[in-house]
Amino acid sequence: MTTALVSEQFIQIIYLISAALFILSLKWLSSPASARHGVWAGELGMLLAVIGTLLYRGIVDYTWIAIALVLGTIIGIPLGRVQMTAVPQRTALSHAFGALCVGLVGTAEFYLRTPQIPRFMMAVLSAEVILGSLTFTGSLMAAGKLQEILPQRPITYRGQNIVNMSLLAISVAVAVYLVIHPEDTRFFPLMIAVPLLFGVLMIVPIGGADMPTVISLLNSYAGLSAAAMGFVLDSKLLIIAGALDGSSGFILSVIMSKAMNRSFTNVLFGAFGQVQASAAAAKETRTVRSATAEEAGAILAASNSVVIVPGYGMAVAQAQHKVRELFDTLTKRGVNVTFGIHPVAGRMPGHMNVLLAEADIPYDKLLDMDAVNPDFPQTDVVLIIGANDVTNPAARSDRSSPIYGMPILDVDKARTVMVIKRSMSPGFAGIDNELYYLDKTLMLFGDARAFVGDIVRQLSGDGHA
Ligand code: TAP
Repeated sequence: MTTALVSEQFIQIIYLISAALFILSLKWLSSPASARHGVWAGELGMLLAVIGTLLYRGIVDYTWIAIALVLGTIIGIPLGRVQMTAVPQRTALSHAFGALCVGLVGTAEFYLRTPQIPRFMMAVLSAEVILGSLTFTGSLMAAGKLQEILPQRPITYRGQNIVNMSLLAISVAVAVYLVIHPEDTRFFPLMIAVPLLFGVLMIVPIGGADMPTVISLLNSYAGLSAAAMGFVLDSKLLIIAGALDGSSGFILSVIMSKAMNRSFTNVLFGAFGQVQASAAAAKETRTVRSATAEEAGAILAASNSVVIVPGYGMAVAQAQHKVRELFDTLTKRGVNVTFGIHPVAGRMPGHMNVLLAEADIPYDKLLDMDAVNPDFPQTDVVLIIGANDVTNPAARSDRSSPIYGMPILDVDKARTVMVIKRSMSPGFAGIDNELYYLDKTLMLFGDARAFVGDIVRQLSGDGHA
């Protein structure tokens, strides 16, 4: 069946609007205040792109497309309902599906066109298939590690980097050969199989702590492979969307690496996360000062300025709505309350901003690390809720620490520090936190949601806690 209902120009206009919406979406997503518009713009852009493609006159039969749409919807709906803390692995799965699609389209195009494939076309088709294949298995591995189906720790062996680089070199060599001899179809399966293996082996030596950065990098590969597919299919929209995806994923990986003071090479080859928790075991016997919700409430009520520092524990406990209640209660009492957000607090970029926005905390109260750090020496109380590594002074002073050099929130410069967490267990990096042993620090042991709830009750109980 062909459609004469719409002209090619009409479809191109739909694609143009779609591309503009993708660009606006990225722009709006860069600030919490406009992020919701960013999501809507992205969704609308994608809907228009799908509609435009369905109107394409080259489509001869809609049966398989309808089946694919139904299957995609069945898989997509539960994927969209995962807990916020599982979003990184969910995102990795989306990249895997996208990359699989790119690889399959590239394979189909190769067998449809061979042996008459111009060199440029064969070069982009090879890039599409190689990037699609390695991103597919790499993303599945990353999702498996984050979901803890696969071991999170880095698995290394002698000569690992040489093996990996050799596999990549073989893929490129096969691609170069096929550009020159596209009629030699015997080699094409090799150009799929070797990158599939490379994708697995590339992720094996990377630890769980680095996975979000790697996912962002895989996002960029998926984008680049989609852009290559755009050249093969002569789709400007795919080229634009792929380029946006590729560059934004790359920029995000750079931002995340910087926030952790890690280089790309270190993330990809550093096997970070291997040395774990020995420090915590060695310091078990040291004492800390702890306090109750009642005592914490009294200290907060008597202060003028409070900075709340949220972390992964707040996300796990889903404490953001209780935190909002605490914010309201303290603000009503005239306390100046702001939030100090570390760029890699939690487990994904913008994790804390999303949770606090969900709880309707005013955006202007969310201060990023560079904005809030100069405030700490004048701050009466820092209340840390389920954050650990991002407040660890070892990053500033201990050259032997695995997080040495990572920029941190200078919470230890405040007059009083209170830390809500359940135990003395370390955070993601698996290391002890010197902050907990300072004289000015009070440990508030308990689940973040329950403890913050108790403080709010204390504060609102008799009005002057
Ligand atoms: P973490 O250092 O992981 O510490 C989280 C703390 O929350 C833990 O010490 C844990 O202590 C506590 N916790 C867990 N469940 C809790 C609950 N229900 N109630 C109260 N506390 C709870 O978190 P962070 O400070 O946010 O740092 C993030 C880490 O992830 C960094 O190492 C960062 O490099 C890494 N990382 C982040 C990203 C992004 S993009 N965000 C990307 C890659 C890596 P207890 O078990 O004692 O409660």
